Amino acid sequence: METVSTIAAFRAALDERRAAGRTVGLVPTMGALHAGHVSLMEASVADRCATAATVFVNPLQFAPTEDLSAYPRPFEDDKAKAESAGVDLLFHPSVEEMYPEPVLTNVHVERVSARLEGASRPTHFDGVATVVNKLFSMAGPCRAYFGEKDWQQLQVVTRMAHDLSMPVEVVGCPIVRDHDGLALSSRNVYLDAEQREAAPVIQLALKAGVASIQAGERSTEAVNELMASIIEAEPLAQLDYAEVVRADTLDPVDPLVGPLRLLAVARFGTTRLLDNLGLDLP
Ligand code: PAJ
Repeated sequence: METVSTIAAFRAALDERRAAGRTVGLVPTMGALHAGHVSLMEASVADRCATAATVFVNPLQFAPTEDLSAYPRPFEDDKAKAESAGVDLLFHPSVEEMYPEPVLTNVHVERVSARLEGASRPTHFDGVATVVNKLFSMAGPCRAYFGEKDWQQLQVVTRMAHDLSMPVEVVGCPIVRDHDGLALSSRNVYLDAEQREAAPVIQLALKAGVASIQAGERSTEAVNELMASIIEAEPLAQLDYAEVVRADTLDPVDPLVGPLRLLAVARFGTTRLLDNLGLDLP
């Protein structure tokens, strides 16, 4: 595995892979890699792509009150995990390399960014869309692998690539979970033992929401209330939102029909955890 830290070296290395006839597979991350990130790298390798992973904690997507400086950065460990997943090229730029000047150009994906995570974190998806746009333009034509764990982010990035005719095929990959159903996240390390034990309640609420729809419930409000009541019954969890929405645009849908996504976010102490499940109602 080759590690590069400049945009010029990253671009040149991927041009070389394409010139040799390879398809490039891009896996953007903020590091603190776990089995969820590794699954994206393995998906790219399994698709026979020359696999490039990026590790960059993107300041643009953190609000001033969020955990930018505390965000874990175990780079040596990340390198070892990427290499054993079969990554060919690792891009690890500094903040100065990515943002030599304050950016005046901001990528904003309307509507898909607006609700849910966008309501709690109003500048977050612009920060994500802007850095992913930069990474796509550095990487060139490729397949780009994103986790369904961040469902709304996956829809924002897919829509951006489509709207801007970017030569990138966005590939969504399933959520990797711990033994008790908790979705793996770099932020799980912040949980104390009791919070960790309580955290799978998000997944339980989502499953109950899916089960109620499968049993015939078609009222959005009833499903949202059911999920909220399950999370609110857990004393260590503070509900942020629990909603069933249209899967691609994240618009509210009532009565329930079509491809749906159930998304929930709760705080355990200061740690915000996200999860979601999908369901298709033809
Ligand atoms: P990060 O949180 O490091 O996640 C990188 C990628 O790993 C994302 O596509 C995310 O959805 C995926 N991922 C995280 N946990 C997962 C899990 N349990 N199962 C499957 N996939 C999982 O998302 C970001 O970084 C940033 O916003 C980024 C896109 C890199 C832009 O800065």
